[in-house]
Amino acid sequence: MHETHALSGSKPEQYAQLLQQAQGLLHGEPDRIANAANLAALVYHALPSLNWVGFYFFDGNELVVGPFQGQPACVRIALGRGVCGTAAVTRQTQRIADVDAFPGHIPCDSASRSELVVPLFKGKGDTLSGADLIGVFDLDSPELDRFDAEDQTGLEAIAQVYLDALT
Ligand code: SME
Repeated sequence: MHETHALSGSKPEQYAQLLQQAQGLLHGEPDRIANAANLAALVYHALPSLNWVGFYFFDGNELVVGPFQGQPACVRIALGRGVCGTAAVTRQTQRIADVDAFPGHIPCDSASRSELVVPLFKGKGDTLSGADLIGVFDLDSPELDRFDAEDQTGLEAIAQVYLDALT
């Protein structure tokens, strides 16, 4: 049984605490489904103003929804489509203040107003759709402009904990 504690202090301090909790939760466990499920649950319950937190995995062709917390979601997203497919292809975190202003945004939950998507790559290969694309870590918020640069840094670090746990 893993205990989690309410986050406190400044935002960077809170992310440092969340990172520690994520490391503890994944410690010694390489299973990508188990770890994705636990991380989605941890983050969804630890951070305010989120309506969807989860993973899409690259199946060799497109992104397929994995473990998440929130409303049922679109199952398959082509590379290059939506915020998730854009993160996967550009290899850049997509921090979208207003999803309605993002061309091609795929609405899964109509409550979503802003979104952060961290691409997940294993290794340092630089092919766009190569075997080292694992998927994406996706967070949606019902608030406009929910994610700032500190959120991005904190959530990228948590995504790295996920990648480091993979064998
Ligand atoms: N909005 C995403 C789709 C996934 S859901 O937000 C869960 C996108 O445009 O890629």
